[in-house]
Amino acid sequence: MKKLLLVFAVSYFTIFASASEASLGRFGLSDVFERTGAKVISCYGRQYMNIVPKQPVSMMSARHNEEVDAHATDDVESMKLRIVKDYHEQTKHHPHRHARSPGYLDWDNQPVPFRSFEGAPQIQLPLIDNDRNLPYSALYESSKNPPYSLSIKSVANMLELSMGLSAWKKYGASEWALRMNPSSGNLHPTECYLVLPDFPHQQACVTHYNPYLHALEKRALLDRNQAAWLKNCGGFGIILTSVPWREAWKYGERAFRYCHHDLGHALGALRYACNLNGWKMMLIPQISEETLDRFLGFDKFKWVDGEPEHADCLCWIDSKNDDPKKILEWFSSQEDIKYEHHPNRLSLEHVDWEIIDRVQKASQTTGPVLLKPANDANPAPSILTSSFTAEGIIRRRRSAQNYDQPTSRTDLATFIHTLKKTLPGNGCPFDMFPYETQVHLAIFVHAVDGLDPGLYMLVRNSKHFESLKNLTHSSFDWSQVTEGLPFYLLQTGNFRDIAQSVSCNQAIAGYSSYALGMLANFDSVLMEAPSMYPKLLWETGLVGQVLYLEAEAHDLRATGIGCFFDDEMHRILGLKGTEWQSFYHFTVGKHVEDTRLETKAPYFHLKVMK
Ligand SMILES: Cc1cc2nc3c(=O)[nH]c(=O)nc-3n(C[C@H](O)[C@H](O)[C@H](O)COP(=O)(O)O)c2cc1C
Repeated sequence: MKKLLLVFAVSYFTIFASASEASLGRFGLSDVFERTGAKVISCYGRQYMNIVPKQPVSMMSARHNEEVDAHATDDVESMKLRIVKDYHEQTKHHPHRHARSPGYLDWDNQPVPFRSFEGAPQIQLPLIDNDRNLPYSALYESSKNPPYSLSIKSVANMLELSMGLSAWKKYGASEWALRMNPSSGNLHPTECYLVLPDFPHQQACVTHYNPYLHALEKRALLDRNQAAWLKNCGGFGIILTSVPWREAWKYGERAFRYCHHDLGHALGALRYACNLNGWKMMLIPQISEETLDRFLGFDKFKWVDGEPEHADCLCWIDSKNDDPKKILEWFSSQEDIKYEHHPNRLSLEHVDWEIIDRVQKASQTTGPVLLKPANDANPAPSILTSSFTAEGIIRRRRSAQNYDQPTSRTDLATFIHTLKKTLPGNGCPFDMFPYETQVHLAIFVHAVDGLDPGLYMLVRNSKHFESLKNLTHSSFDWSQVTEGLPFYLLQTGNFRDIAQSVSCNQAIAGYSSYALGMLANFDSVLMEAPSMYPKLLWETGLVGQVLYLEAEAHDLRATGIGCFFDDEMHRILGLKGTEWQSFYHFTVGKHVEDTRLETKAPYFHLKVMK
């Protein structure tokens, strides 16, 4: 297997898609395997220490100390709030100054994009021979067929369609893998661990999904009691984690945001793939990252300096939606699972972005979380369908790198249909998201037949309508476009140049059919719970995943835009203060294929190496 990884390593190259990302990059894993000794370069760390003193972090660990009094707890909470808000403020891009980053791409130290556990026994997963050719509606609706029974094959199928590879791209001597789930800069900080019950010839275990090999790496075997509990529940757990260094290598201090956007996309990708198997999925909201780190044995690892991996969330998958409290209690009570194998090293040298460690600690789930009300409405139904199958849509999802402005149009019915799909409700994928809806879409409509070009707003939670209306420009119209849909015209006009310039001057935002910024309820939510910061970012990723698939379903192509000028977007909307913050941008249109690139099948390398 080492040989296989090494062969891959020598030929592994990656590409980066954003405006400043046009250059092709190359990274040889063999360099990392063969060279030893890491040097940690502290970049700007001193400045951060001056901005936010280190003490709050140690105060935070006192949160779990029973002796801590209520007053001190308040202090800790307000300190966390300040750290999170400072982080967000400090990581804004401005036209005159981008958030701090290395400022260049250190190809010699590009992190390995695939996590592996050296020496861990593997369960090779079967690849799907033939897709089931499920209709587009199967992405969203509950299947009328019985759910797939739980087996290695059905889990493999689900993983292939969510976190697996989607293609290889080749340009000259460079070759790089794409995945079903998108990722900022194709850097893929999200890792996926599964807690599986007994299967025939396979003892219940905790495994890591390696998408390059399409294999599960067995990290720990579970005992009889644990196996019995899992069998009794009839489901399995997924823990998603992030490796911030993968993103920080390129994006510096803004990387924490990208990790959590990506995590939201991964949640969406998993939810869709589970739905195709007839499985429910729920995110267990109250479990702490610390508990999950302990469950995975992360608290006992000596991570390579600068390369820590953190648990972010636990999802439970079954066919019936079990009691989340029961799941939470079981995962919280499992101690001393024996983990033997060590994670691979990702880079030889690191830049230490201290502000990321700080915000990561300050935004841990320790206090209350804002759950959604039980009666969250279902979005109005839409009858539009697609000429592509459900699996076809998932497999063809890509980020557009270029749009053809004249043909980058869509019609009103398709556009409205897509907006409806982004609304929360009891359907897929938002049914797995337990938090109250906090994100709205400010949309630059460039070319939607039947709709005036202009600036619009989709209010995804009606509770926020007044706040959004009162805090944006008083000159905005707020006239409802379609009855029954919380979609409002703010101002007509040509916003192509504005959309492009606010998106770090990326042409994809101006040449598309429409582009948008996702506005998050920042102050109010964080005041309640600073730990909601990552969850707000997840919500944007989840909405983004819907936009990606909806674009493909209707023969368009989307791209997530993490590079935008935060406060410029607020100025366009007239927003003052930080009650509402633009978190993530998106663009949808008719893409231009880059014909210089050769495409290869996602798992051709496994066949070649057999
Ligand atoms: C959170 C996030 C931010 C992104 N930001 C940008 C961006 O600013 N500009 C861009 O061209 N692409 C951006 N992308 C697209 C990624 O570069 C793309 O997902 C990645 O290269 C993998 O390609 P694929 O989506 O075709 O699989 C972003 C994607 C995500 C998920």
